[in-house]
Amino acid sequence: MMTKPEFRVFPTAQATTHAVAAHLAAALKQHPALRLGLATGNTFVPVYAALVDLYRAGGFSFAQSMSFNLDEYIGLPPEHPASFGAYMRRHFFDHVDMPAGKGRLPIVEGDIDQACQDYEAAIAASGGIDLQVLGIGRNGHIGFNEPGSAFDSRTRQIDLAPSTLEANQGDFPPTESVPPSAVTMGIGTILDAREIVLVANGASKAEALRAAFLAQPSTDCPASALQSHGRVLVFCDEAAAEKLDR
Ligand code: F6R
Repeated sequence: MMTKPEFRVFPTAQATTHAVAAHLAAALKQHPALRLGLATGNTFVPVYAALVDLYRAGGFSFAQSMSFNLDEYIGLPPEHPASFGAYMRRHFFDHVDMPAGKGRLPIVEGDIDQACQDYEAAIAASGGIDLQVLGIGRNGHIGFNEPGSAFDSRTRQIDLAPSTLEANQGDFPPTESVPPSAVTMGIGTILDAREIVLVANGASKAEALRAAFLAQPSTDCPASALQSHGRVLVFCDEAAAEKLDR
């Protein structure tokens, strides 16, 4: 059965950011042992900052929670500032009380296929993800599930699309290229989460949101798989919502 996602549209990106942080804080207050699925990218830099501010103000804790990140580049040393591990430490893990080792990212070294299976097993063993946050690529990707990804795909290695390499080049010095491949949770992995919160700001995301939620689901737009999920909240600003028929 197809269920419409719930759209929460805000006048500015800043207002969207604060609403997402408040939603996450409320979820943690209600369920301190929340199993979070986390994302990186520009959209989430201010979201983590706002969430850390709320955490510092008190009233909830990450001490009993755990998290699984969506994706990680292959081929970067863990301390590389553009690795998603470094991003998560810089913007989130170093500022909250989630116990060391409870905030996990996909392993991108050694036997990667085995590590992907182990990541799936760890998510399942935790009881499954309660609340998964997602950004969306301009090409409709979620995690690093690029167009063409199967809707039942699981955690695996993937080659990044040219538009993703271009979009993420800004995170790297001009002399360094974006790694061509990554490990990502699959679309099937994402759809297993009990609640999904997708965040999109800015006009550059308007077409991706339209293709995700107004067009027929198609692997051409990975985010359109979310139409089959029973609880999707889309937090976006008016610029990103421009092409949604509301
Ligand atoms: C990041 C991720 C990606 C981003 C997407 C949007 O962990 O999985 O799907 O959410 O590329 O990135 P920004 O927010 O930089 O536009």
